[in-house]
Amino acid sequence: MKHLLKMLDLSHEEICEILNLADQLKYEQKHNIEHKYLKGKTLGLIFEKASTRTRVSFEVGMYQLGGLPIFLSANDMQIGRGEPVQDTARVLSRYLDGIMIRTFKQSEVEDLAKYGSIPIINGLTDFCHPCQILADLMTIREYKGKLAGQKMAFIGDGNNMMNSLIVGALKMEMSISVACPEGYEPDPLVLEFAKGFGDKFEMVREPKKAVVGADVVITDVWASMGQEGEAEKRKKAFAGYCIDEELMSYAKPDAIVQHCLPAHRGEEISADVFEAHAAEIFDEAENRLHAQKAVIVKCLTDK
Ligand code: CP
Ligand code: NVA
Repeated sequence: MKHLLKMLDLSHEEICEILNLADQLKYEQKHNIEHKYLKGKTLGLIFEKASTRTRVSFEVGMYQLGGLPIFLSANDMQIGRGEPVQDTARVLSRYLDGIMIRTFKQSEVEDLAKYGSIPIINGLTDFCHPCQILADLMTIREYKGKLAGQKMAFIGDGNNMMNSLIVGALKMEMSISVACPEGYEPDPLVLEFAKGFGDKFEMVREPKKAVVGADVVITDVWASMGQEGEAEKRKKAFAGYCIDEELMSYAKPDAIVQHCLPAHRGEEISADVFEAHAAEIFDEAENRLHAQKAVIVKCLTDK
């Protein structure tokens, strides 16, 4: 059984395999070559948080692969009224061939995998966002030709995106510098993992320091889903952490910008920088589709 629960679980080779398959599926889709690897298979999509990209790309991806996606809003399910995840996992395993879940606690995703008997794909938790990071790595490789040796800079919150990018970048032999205010550091598990990579990982307070010489500059919202009540406090804490033209002048001249979206212009990224790098950012959004199709194929078939 194969799951995608977090980037920490994937080896360098597995990430390469997913990215190569994603490139192949993208090529096939662009050239109208059918790839119905999931014919007759069903994928449940459980959402306990809002989504535009993840929902649509999983639904369209399953359709293009010949399978059936089933959107399941947690608010409309018994899990939203307290049915234990252990029972939900065992029931859904009798109907479906796989589950994608977007929720709050990482432990809920891990429990689905533990108690169910079908592949589980993490569509975002408070801890990580592996599907997004695979799309980001795919996009960076498209623009830069390779991942190894590239420098990534992440400016902002030590959230699900920062956690997963640190792991993904280091596993793919990139270096990564992150800049975050005190109290908004990445998860201790991720910091522990990064310790094994010496100076390939750096955590600083000063955004300019992180961005110097970067090939890829990345950010994400300051208040993630579920943190709306802290938005004002966070705006103060993250003052000075906006990716604007001045900050970009410290990166390499050909640096690309990535943002998982949705973006808050004027907060984590200026409108000018966003529009100047819109091509890369929307390629990144498109690559969610291709990278996730590769993940579904890997998790639900022997390919
Ligand atoms: N980036 C991302 O996961 O977008 P959605 O929240 O719209 O799915
Ligand atoms: N960190 C953001 C990512 C959204 C795709 C959140 O969790 O809301």
